[in-house]
Amino acid sequence: MKRLHNFKVVIFLTLGLWASRHCEAKLLPKHWESIPNAKERPTHSSKIASCLAMTTNRDKTAPESRTRTSFNKDWKFFLGDEPNAKLPSYNDSKWRKLTLPHDWSIEGKFDEKNPAKSEGGGLPTGTAWYRKGFIAPANFKDRLITVEFDGVYKNSEVWVNGEYLGKRPYGYSSFSYEISKFLKSGKNMIAVKVDNSAQPDSRWYSGSGIYRNVWLTSTAKVAIKEHGVFVKAGFVSGDFGESTDGGNLKPGQAVGFVAPQVSFINKSVDKTKKYKIEFSVLNKEGKHVANYLIAADVLEDNTGKNVSSLLISQPEIWSVERPYLYTLLVKIIDSENKIIDAQSTTFGIRRFNFDAIKGFSLNGKPMKILGVCLHHDLGALGAAVNVRAMERQLEIMKKMGVNAIRTAHNPPAPEFLDLCDKMGFLVMDEAFDMWAKKKTKNDYHLNFSEWHKADLEDMVKRDRNHPSIILWSIGNEIREQFDSTGIAITKELVKIVKNLDNTRPVISALTETKAEKNFIYQANALDIYGLNYNHKLYKDFPKNYPGVKFLATETTSALETRGFYDTADTIRRWPKDGKTKFTAGNKEWSASAYDNVSAYWGSTHEETWKEAKKYDHVSGLFVWTGFDYLGEPLPYPWPARSSYFGIVDLAGFPKDSYYMYQSEWTNKPVLHILPHWNWEKGKSVEIWAYYNKADEVELYLNGKSLGKKSKQGDDLHVLWNVNFEPGTLKAISRKNGKEVLVREVKTAGAPAKIELIADRKNIKADGKDLSFITVRILDAAGNVVPNADNLVDFKVEGNGFIAGVDNGFQASLEPFKANYRKAFHGLCLAILQSTEKAGTIKLRATSAGLSPSSIIIKTRK
Ligand code: GAL
Repeated sequence: MKRLHNFKVVIFLTLGLWASRHCEAKLLPKHWESIPNAKERPTHSSKIASCLAMTTNRDKTAPESRTRTSFNKDWKFFLGDEPNAKLPSYNDSKWRKLTLPHDWSIEGKFDEKNPAKSEGGGLPTGTAWYRKGFIAPANFKDRLITVEFDGVYKNSEVWVNGEYLGKRPYGYSSFSYEISKFLKSGKNMIAVKVDNSAQPDSRWYSGSGIYRNVWLTSTAKVAIKEHGVFVKAGFVSGDFGESTDGGNLKPGQAVGFVAPQVSFINKSVDKTKKYKIEFSVLNKEGKHVANYLIAADVLEDNTGKNVSSLLISQPEIWSVERPYLYTLLVKIIDSENKIIDAQSTTFGIRRFNFDAIKGFSLNGKPMKILGVCLHHDLGALGAAVNVRAMERQLEIMKKMGVNAIRTAHNPPAPEFLDLCDKMGFLVMDEAFDMWAKKKTKNDYHLNFSEWHKADLEDMVKRDRNHPSIILWSIGNEIREQFDSTGIAITKELVKIVKNLDNTRPVISALTETKAEKNFIYQANALDIYGLNYNHKLYKDFPKNYPGVKFLATETTSALETRGFYDTADTIRRWPKDGKTKFTAGNKEWSASAYDNVSAYWGSTHEETWKEAKKYDHVSGLFVWTGFDYLGEPLPYPWPARSSYFGIVDLAGFPKDSYYMYQSEWTNKPVLHILPHWNWEKGKSVEIWAYYNKADEVELYLNGKSLGKKSKQGDDLHVLWNVNFEPGTLKAISRKNGKEVLVREVKTAGAPAKIELIADRKNIKADGKDLSFITVRILDAAGNVVPNADNLVDFKVEGNGFIAGVDNGFQASLEPFKANYRKAFHGLCLAILQSTEKAGTIKLRATSAGLSPSSIIIKTRK
């Protein structure tokens, strides 16, 4: 950080209209973004110094020229269709009052007859209306007022004061309407109809309603367009490239560049007016590290032309280990020196490369993309966006060693990408699960021809400033890969993306493995070959596709239930193939957590990871999936209603495979043994240990050594067969004979008490923040009882409420919105949400025959 104080901020103006009006331009080479070495790097110049003297440092804080306020409060909701609700005069006094984001499906009851079926999560869908009365922002007649929806599932239609604004079919897109001309003084009324009745639709749980945030923006009539700032940023450095020293950046040799593009609204309103545009780059502490002021006789969009660039010597580089973010502040200043618009955009300085032979590198350093696919639901909270719930998911993934997320199979909430930027995840941002050819009867194929351009453009425009995003995906397992219509659509979609952002590769997740039969591949328009599954093809990929860059866009699809163990001796494929009806399976709708069950098109976790780690040309992988998600409970029928694919269950409790990845994907010492130690006397049980940072693990039963084991060849675990006798299993990992870690599993007695553990005991009193309380059923000695399924009742007092409960069991039909939950394999979860009043939340958990427990969470303003 200190280095920044001595920064020599240099500013270069590249060839360009605006710049040439003000300073004499210094030319940068045309393809300056890929300058390979320091010698060709631009240098300081006196012209630039004089230009620098013109820059200002006036406004540290964002001015009131633009306001963007939350529009989430005081909505009315009605489940059902009520066509007259669009009229301002409609009486909604009996409707329910709520705060957005809201998902009505998650509040409903599981029912086999619900049209979404178990594939869609088994919860109700339907049609509903939302209404909100509001006072127009001050001076609305002289302003542009826009209502922005981050996402409504789906087919939203919006009216303001009875005037129709439009329809948006795709439930995963963000969209907005400019509403100034419909506003009046005093009270205004906005009405939103949401229609998610046509099922089946998404192949997973979508949620229903205004499930993401809504905003109201007010700007001057001449203003920066929504998503009108695009910051291209990167750096050049002397040792950049596939360098011999492992690619470590030499701080003294880097120059960061920030090339902003801006588009304006109503730029030609008054041609007599003169403006200045100021660009400032601020570091994390808010200190200006580069400024650039230009005069503009008229405001002209510079989209598509790199007309100006700010250079920063010795920039802080964004990486997954140290996700450093800068802010670009763009101001439009009129001839009276009044700021008429200002917008700040966070960005990161980083660069990356995919190589057909060497795989992926970030900032010149080779690294494998260690990714997971995630659907958008937040378990018991459904699809309703909550930043803390998303952050918790990412924290759990980070701890496992995940460095990348694929947003399967649709654009995520914008806050999710903000978190990825801040927390250091790479992102594959995905647009579609289908194009014109359907996967289900009522899915987006019905809207594709009319809407694909707008939906894809809106995703790229909204998301292209996120340093986390390294890939645009135009689709997952798209049917058009199998016939020649795939060629034209692929070309068109790639062109749409590249027109808006040519700094990132475009990919599609493919399944057809024969090049001559894969028409998406045949389009010859994609930058990287994205292969789903088929891990046995990784090895020969370079031979079969010479010179083609390769990423395993989806892998594994292993099936596991937390805490449940079948004998480990065989690997099962459930279902066995595409033809045979699935009749295997367990009576309790479970799948063994020994990592020995998978879908037939997939593999166990170990099978795929062993292949992916072997070859440098495999740039990385995205395991299906990081978390269990609602819907797609393959291979089980009802009452199963959520997926078995997660490395972590729906409640956020890791399954055992989590520790296999942790031992491989992180540098921290790991030792994890499974299963639990409560079996019938004499039963032969396989004990597995995942470990790293050690040469061997020794296992003891009741103090007696059962032998030392070391991983051989490409083994990812060691195992012992042990005849059960009650007591203590103890594993010790050692390196050079020195103890590294010790783990113990004890035979638990009968359930005796409840334990409550909060992920955070002090949260914000903002009406949104959450404390996730893990509920453990313990025996008298304090061991978790591995098969405990006690019903736990919750009582909350104070400044909070229960936002959801869960236990991670994929076939539980208990509601998520409740004040009770049965434990599953010894655990359940209560999610506490704050109100806006600071104080405390007290949670008391009771269960028949067990000692109760309480916990107090502080909430602060
Ligand atoms: C893939 C698909 C995913 C999910 C998965 C289940 O083929 O892309 O969306 O359905 O199978 O194994």
